[in-house]
Amino acid sequence: MKVWGIVPAAGIGERMGGTAPKQFLEIGGVPMLARVIDALLRSGIIGGVTVPVRDAEREKAEKTVAKFVDADVPVLFVTGGQTRQESVYRGLASVEGKNPDFILIHDAARPFISPDIVRRAVDVARDAGASVVGIPATDAMALSRDGIITEYLPRDALVCIQTPQVFRYDLVVSAHEAAVRDGITGAADDAELVLRLGGKIVVVRGSPDNIKITYPADISRMGTTG
Ligand code: CTP
Ligand code: MG
Repeated sequence: MKVWGIVPAAGIGERMGGTAPKQFLEIGGVPMLARVIDALLRSGIIGGVTVPVRDAEREKAEKTVAKFVDADVPVLFVTGGQTRQESVYRGLASVEGKNPDFILIHDAARPFISPDIVRRAVDVARDAGASVVGIPATDAMALSRDGIITEYLPRDALVCIQTPQVFRYDLVVSAHEAAVRDGITGAADDAELVLRLGGKIVVVRGSPDNIKITYPADISRMGTTG
């Protein structure tokens, strides 16, 4: 069974600010991007990884991975897109002809991923066709409009969706192609696109540590988690 990883890393980290995009920030001396690729490879089940990056940071990304990751499988760098969705789509294009059985997608901005969760996500997708890592919502959740609460949501039914997300190769390619056909460009993630096609997606219990570094305040977690 062949699993190929895609690590979208072409964002600019607008909400984080700073001089370089957040995927190059170091945690314990190791840039996030390198941490992520290292964790995927240490799972022992990934046969290769594609990293969509902006052209301006391609060389930096290549050097970062070469310096920090002892990669015994291919790591490809491709030009990312204007949106995460487009970056993943271009990552998928890089896999054409390699015929993997499954694609595992994990944000470069989630550096606290463990090889164990990677393996569990793949195991579940092997049986079900698609898996997403998620954790049960702990806060109460509500809809609001113009700052006014309009409706409470049933917390027991809510899942906070993370990555990795793992899909049968043909399924995720079809989902992205359908999205392009239908003019959808800003999907939150890949599971959202697979769900549009009616695919069954099984939740794999993740970890609260597997946060997406988004705002500068998220860095404060690094000391305790990294
Ligand atoms: N991403 C990407 N291509 C884009 C936008 C985002 O590959 N055009 C990647 C990011 O690099 C990140 C992941 O998608 O690893 C999740 O996106 P997010 O946390 O939103 O990162 P940024 O888009 O960089 O941050 P911001 O939205 O604050 O600008
Ligand atoms: Mg973004």
